[in-house]
Amino acid sequence: MKNILADCPDGDGIILRVFCIEDYDAVVTLWRRSEGVGLNESDTRDAIAAFLRRNPRLSLVAQKRGRIIGAVLCGHDGRRGYLHHLAVSKRHRQHGIGRQLVNACMMKLRKIGIQKCTIFLFAENVTGRKFWIHNGWSLRADIQLMQIRLDDNKSVK
Ligand SMILES: CC(C)(COP(=O)(O)OP(=O)(O)OC[C@H]1O[C@@H](n2cnc3c(N)ncnc32)[C@H](O)[C@@H]1OP(=O)(O)O)[C@@H](O)C(=O)NCCC(=O)NCCS
Repeated sequence: MKNILADCPDGDGIILRVFCIEDYDAVVTLWRRSEGVGLNESDTRDAIAAFLRRNPRLSLVAQKRGRIIGAVLCGHDGRRGYLHHLAVSKRHRQHGIGRQLVNACMMKLRKIGIQKCTIFLFAENVTGRKFWIHNGWSLRADIQLMQIRLDDNKSVK
């Protein structure tokens, strides 16, 4: 697959294009079938629509003959970029689609002045971790992720 982010398919008929909310059902089906992707309350149609509006034209899908075969959410907070839920359908893996989705997102983030990008990886996702490390990402063993719920009274002391 050549490096593409266009409406014009390459020889395999694969294009990368911007993720629109109309892709939601197909992308959620892909995510549900993808080990290593965890869905929660931030992945409802409304929540994804809000994410796409807040981060215009950054998230991408890979499409082959009209079918979604890969997807990634990309956003930033003005300081760091974040990728979520990178997935490629099982039969299309190992053809460079995951890397191209990631590279295209990084190019977009770089263009708007973001210098570092972070991903969240389940500790048990060994194959996912190998993919990121193989593609130049570093595991930050010096940082731990902490979180609190904001939609729960228990978070207010
Ligand atoms: C991770 C994932 C997106 C990779 O997609 P992909 O399209 O198969 O990856 P690519 O073909 O672009 O791989 C690019 C390079 O990484 C390598 N690679 C891909 N998966 C790898 C793995 N599990 N372990 C080691 N290397 C891997 C490829 O061999 C290729 O290397 P090369 O350039 O030296 O030939 C895909 O395996 C997937 O959807 N996994 C399930 C969901 C998941 O875990 N996502 C990550 C959540 S954080």
